Amino acid sequence: MNLSLAIATLALSAQTSIAVLRNGALSTDVFIPTKISYLALVDDSSFTESIKKSMMDALQESGMVSITDIPGKQVKDKALSWDLQACLQDSEAAKEHTFQDGTVRRTLATHTVPGGAQNIDHRSESPSCEAFSKAVDDFRSSSAQATQAFAKRLGSLLEESEDVHQDGALLSTAEGYEFSAFSDVVENGEHLEHFHSYQKNSNQASEETVAYHTDQGLFIAFTPGRMVRDQPGHVEISTGFFIELPSGARVHVKFDENDDLVFMLGDGVNQYVNPMLLDKTHAAVTLLRATPHALTMPEHSKNVARVWYGRMVLPPASALHPKHGKSFGLLREEMIDASINNNNEHALSFGCSSSSMTARQLEETSCEEGTLLCWHRCMDIAEAGVSQEICAAQSLDLQCINPRGQLWDNTHGDFFPGCADANSTELNTPYPSLPGIPRDNGTCSTEEWDAFVSSANFNNSFEVGKNGIFMWDVLESGQIKGRLAYNGLLGYLAFGFANVGGSKNGMHGATILLAIPGDNYTATDGFELDAGPSVQEFVISPDPAKSSFRFWMDPVNDFVATARQSSEIDSRSVESTECFTALTFQATSINGIPFDLEGTDELIWAANGQDFFAGYHGPDDRSRFSIDWSTGEALANTGETAPPPPEEGDPAETSSGSFYVSKTGIALVAALISIADFI
Ligand SMILES: *[C@@H]1O[C@H](CO)[C@@H](O)[C@H](O)[C@H]1NC(C)=O
Ligand SMILES: *[C@@H]1O[C@H](CO)[C@@H](O)[C@H](O)[C@H]1NC(C)=O
Ligand SMILES: *[C@@H]1O[C@H](CO)[C@@H](O)[C@H](O)[C@H]1NC(C)=O
Ligand SMILES: *[C@@H]1O[C@H](CO)[C@@H](O)[C@H](O)[C@H]1NC(C)=O
Repeated sequence: MNLSLAIATLALSAQTSIAVLRNGALSTDVFIPTKISYLALVDDSSFTESIKKSMMDALQESGMVSITDIPGKQVKDKALSWDLQACLQDSEAAKEHTFQDGTVRRTLATHTVPGGAQNIDHRSESPSCEAFSKAVDDFRSSSAQATQAFAKRLGSLLEESEDVHQDGALLSTAEGYEFSAFSDVVENGEHLEHFHSYQKNSNQASEETVAYHTDQGLFIAFTPGRMVRDQPGHVEISTGFFIELPSGARVHVKFDENDDLVFMLGDGVNQYVNPMLLDKTHAAVTLLRATPHALTMPEHSKNVARVWYGRMVLPPASALHPKHGKSFGLLREEMIDASINNNNEHALSFGCSSSSMTARQLEETSCEEGTLLCWHRCMDIAEAGVSQEICAAQSLDLQCINPRGQLWDNTHGDFFPGCADANSTELNTPYPSLPGIPRDNGTCSTEEWDAFVSSANFNNSFEVGKNGIFMWDVLESGQIKGRLAYNGLLGYLAFGFANVGGSKNGMHGATILLAIPGDNYTATDGFELDAGPSVQEFVISPDPAKSSFRFWMDPVNDFVATARQSSEIDSRSVESTECFTALTFQATSINGIPFDLEGTDELIWAANGQDFFAGYHGPDDRSRFSIDWSTGEALANTGETAPPPPEEGDPAETSSGSFYVSKTGIALVAALISIADFI
């Protein structure tokens, strides 16, 4: 069937023609988006054939559908009220940008990753921010649910379509992990969330505030702009949002109060969804359409602001771009980098399909005064104890360096602002390897691994990851006797209690037993290996910016032997062979936190088998899990919304992020993402 013909026919029916286009930029043609109720998204029996058809038609023609009747209207009203505008003026987390037409946009940026939604830290006392913060969690979680429901529906529409079939997984990682369905890509993707307010303070003639462009990523979910006033209860739906239809007509989109969340497709559908969809002749088909759109701020009085929420869904950072073969995480970094240096058109166009949209200058591409882009975010220079002047006094430059004095190369690791000679300093190199790397595959075979695992007898065992097995018994003494075996050398091996609610899925603030390969650790030289391995108790810093071992390298407890019921004393040890490692303990507690023998503990483990610098663990060498000691039942991947795909780094936090429009007319994303290098 000829899809484009069907599209052309239907496009006309959705559009109510009111007047003739005037010179392209502004038109008075009105477009009413297709509305689908939330119930139809989540309930199969409500998703009738005719709704199914109108959803698919809308995504092919305009690229946009509006979801109505999402439960919790009050939540939306509270989150997108004058409090948001007032908070944007108070919060230190807010960023400001002035457009050419004089419109000021203020932004609170945050971010949801498979590990969970990140909070916004306003770093300021403000009643408005308090009110906003109270409403925002429920609002974000309801938008997350609607986003997931939309992704599931669209995924099943693509799979069931009679016209096309999907050719293989949509995306996969370098390690071969496949994101087969549309909803997998969305679920494991990064969702950048922005709360904006726009105020136009000048009386300039109505020109475009944001020029026509398509968004990066799979799609954006947004609430139509709301004009709020500094009096309670005063809200109107904003005008000024325009889209371009396949015919080239530019039309004004008429939203109303029922449009709770609008889904608008981005350039990602051109790049990695449509090419995977084949029709019966095996030629790729354009099934989904990315929507070009623009904003012209309406006139308003001084005590009014246009507030808006958008959630941009990007593919998983670990997934490879099918054309470029680089991971989306890396492409994103290259884009951020190019935008900062403002000189690399190649990288800028890298993550985008071709587009003839109009040119647009970059915005918000560099860090604020007093900060330096370092390790994927804007780091405070003064906090790092340096300044331009301090470095200049040593004839050095202010740079983003690692403890070994090497320059940041856009990878994950331990980086901070410091002084270095930019002309002669080398780029970050991998840590020196542990002695014995690479392992001998002949010796370190699967059979040998099995033998190592079963060299100790336990009644319970649980595979905590591809390379780790935890085995245990609950002893009559009230102690847990446990052995964590790792299919790798000893860089480190950690086991302990997750800090439930802590960032990185409970890694930050976790209490652990840590086997280390030596002593006298420094971040510049790593461990001294002569002393041999040992096991000690540590608490990982609860501060998400302090993942690196150097921040929490002091053991917390010099091993207090605390047997609960008997004279059995606690013990712990590490075995390290030329192939494998095992951490064994017999204990009632770790750092005074007792095992819950009557119930369930949330646990984590992590390992590094490569270096003696306590560097980053591999993606297969960590997980969170739970064990019910009373029944012996264990569960994998607890505390996470979905089984985690292999990641380049851990679920990340953003300190800030921004959408901006490139010279090719594609909105890019400068998510300044921090990724931990430990556990
Ligand atoms: C690096 O080289 C530039 C240009 O050659 C020079 O101006 C600058 O002083 C050098 N920086 C240092 C720290 O030597
Ligand atoms: C050893 O195994 C690793 C991982 O499977 C592989 O990458 C490497 O090529 C193997 N080396 C040899 C010498 O077979
Ligand atoms: C292991 O299981 C056996 C058989 O059920 C039991 O006799 C033994 O006491 C158990 N050992 C421990 C340490 O729980
Ligand atoms: C290394 O650590 C040991 C204790 O583990 C200590 O006795 C020794 O003084 C340390 N060496 C240095 C050079 O700090």
